[in-house]
Amino acid sequence: MKDHILTNLPAKYPQIVSKCKEIDFSMPSDLHIGSLLKTLVTSKPNAKLLELGSGIGLSLSWMIDGMDSESSLITIDNDEDLIEITKGFFGDDKRVKIICEDGEEWILRYEGDKFDLIFADAWPGKYSLIEDTLDLLKKGGFYIIDDMDPQPNWPEGHAQKVTQLIEYLENRDDFNLTKFNWSTGVIVATKK
Ligand SMILES: C[S@@+](CC[C@H](N)C(=O)[O-])C[C@H]1O[C@@H](n2cnc3c(N)ncnc32)[C@H](O)[C@@H]1O
Repeated sequence: MKDHILTNLPAKYPQIVSKCKEIDFSMPSDLHIGSLLKTLVTSKPNAKLLELGSGIGLSLSWMIDGMDSESSLITIDNDEDLIEITKGFFGDDKRVKIICEDGEEWILRYEGDKFDLIFADAWPGKYSLIEDTLDLLKKGGFYIIDDMDPQPNWPEGHAQKVTQLIEYLENRDDFNLTKFNWSTGVIVATKK
C-alpha cells in the first residue's frame, strides 16, 4: 500500500501550500493528518467541529472538505496575520467561524455546544488546559493530535512535555486511544 498517494486533496490545498512557501510558514500540518481529519469529519454528519491552531489553514482545508452542509466548525489562532490569510481562503464559508484569540482564553470562556471532533494543534488544548478541552467533547467524539514523534523544530525540553501528555491520555479511563507512528506521530482518542 502506497500511503503517500493521496487522491482527495481539497480544491484550495495547492493555493494554501503556495502561500505557506511565500510566507515561509514553519509549522504546516502534513498531508496525512489532513486526509485522516477529512475521513473522520465525514463520519460525523451534522457535526460541531473545533480546531485549536488554525495556522495557515492547511488542516482546516481538509476538515472543511469532509464536512456536510449541516456541520459547523470553529477554528482559533492567536496570530492575526495567519488568521487574515485563513479568512482569505475560507472566510466566505458560513459553516466556518475563524477566531483570532488566545486559545486558553477561548477554551475557558466557551459555553456553547460540545464538539464531535477536536483537532488540537496549538499549545492550548494539548499542553495546557487539556482537561478543560477534553470536557468540550461529546460522548463518542474524537480528540486528535499530531507531532507526537520527535520533530526537528522541537525546542529543548519539549520531548518531556510530549511524554507527559501521552501518559496523561493513556491514564484517562474515559477515553479509548490509538497511537500511530505515522505522519508526524498521531493520537486518535474517543470519549466513552
Ligand atoms: C502547528 S501550527 C497549526 C498549523 C495548522 N493546523 C495548519 O495546518 O496550518 C500551531 C498554531 O498554533 C498557534 N498558537 C500558538 N499558541 C497559541 C495560543 N496560545 N492560542 C491560539 N493559537 C496559538 C500558532 O499561531 C500556530 O499557527
